[in-house]
Amino acid sequence: MSDPAPSWISPELIGVLEAEGTDAHRLCSGRGGWTERFGRDALVSWWDAGFRDAMRAGLADWARRSGLGIERIFERELPRQPEARATPVLLKGDAARPLESVVLERGVRSVVDFSAGYSVGLFLDQRCNRALVRHWCPRRTLNLFAYTCSFSVAAALGGGSTTSVDLSRRSLDRGRQNFSLNGLDPAAHTFIAADVLRVLPRLARQNQRFDCLIVDPPTFSRGERGKTFRVVRDLADLALAAMSLADTKGRIMLSTNSAKMTEADVYAAARYALKASRRGADLHREPPPPDVPAEQAAKTLWILLKD
Ligand SMILES: C[S@@+](CC[C@H](N)C(=O)[O-])C[C@H]1O[C@@H](n2cnc3c(N)ncnc32)[C@H](O)[C@@H]1O
Repeated sequence: MSDPAPSWISPELIGVLEAEGTDAHRLCSGRGGWTERFGRDALVSWWDAGFRDAMRAGLADWARRSGLGIERIFERELPRQPEARATPVLLKGDAARPLESVVLERGVRSVVDFSAGYSVGLFLDQRCNRALVRHWCPRRTLNLFAYTCSFSVAAALGGGSTTSVDLSRRSLDRGRQNFSLNGLDPAAHTFIAADVLRVLPRLARQNQRFDCLIVDPPTFSRGERGKTFRVVRDLADLALAAMSLADTKGRIMLSTNSAKMTEADVYAAARYALKASRRGADLHREPPPPDVPAEQAAKTLWILLKD
């Protein structure tokens, strides 16, 4: 059965995005999945075959009429089990064209790579949070679970220093490439390929302090020495550990895309960390980008420390 009512981005919003220099955004959202644009490529992500079939029937035509210059369509299933995650497959378009390209978000350049695995390199639902970081121009940013360092680039463009931590060397290499693409010298920034759970106590022992901290962990991971991380169980303790590294008036972003956690759970994790550290804060939630329905965006909360 086809998705009953996938909702397409409006021509007006496309005009706004083009004018601000963004060519990586949602094209369509439905009950069974969504479709994103990454420059000249479209990626259909589905958990209900009805959405996939609706896109197979209508996306190529829509893309042609849109005038966005979309030349290829990729597909991937969003499975329940992380072990079942697979690299997107090319459905339509030139298989000989490189699978790597550069996309733009408000003029900031990022590499996306359709051969890199399940995720292509940029999480589009975080566009407004990255804009917020760029606007704040933090002096020292700690980006935990940094992936391809999109938040670090946003922070570094404001002139501050950044430290990006991720288990994956390959993702951090991609992060360095993203720095270079934006005229930033990666050698002037710190990249740590290690388990966040082991790096946090080390930074605390070194008495390091940051005025911006990004805490965006995966749902589950097995870190160094087989130590497991489960966001449902561990987010509050992680928030507390991050808080101990935050400057007076530091800003901490707590985020998860776990289907098992609600906005209220993230709020509760923030409250727990504030109480345990005896610090005061305002809590702020930046609305998701207008092309991403709130129920399909990561649950994200900013802790704006007052002391
Ligand atoms: C949800 S992604 C983070 C997305 C990123 N914040 C962004 O906006 O682009 C999760 C990342 O956490 C990394 N990771 C998973 N477990 C880790 C751990 N224990 N320590 C460090 N990095 C970890 C993965 O390699 C992956 O790059």
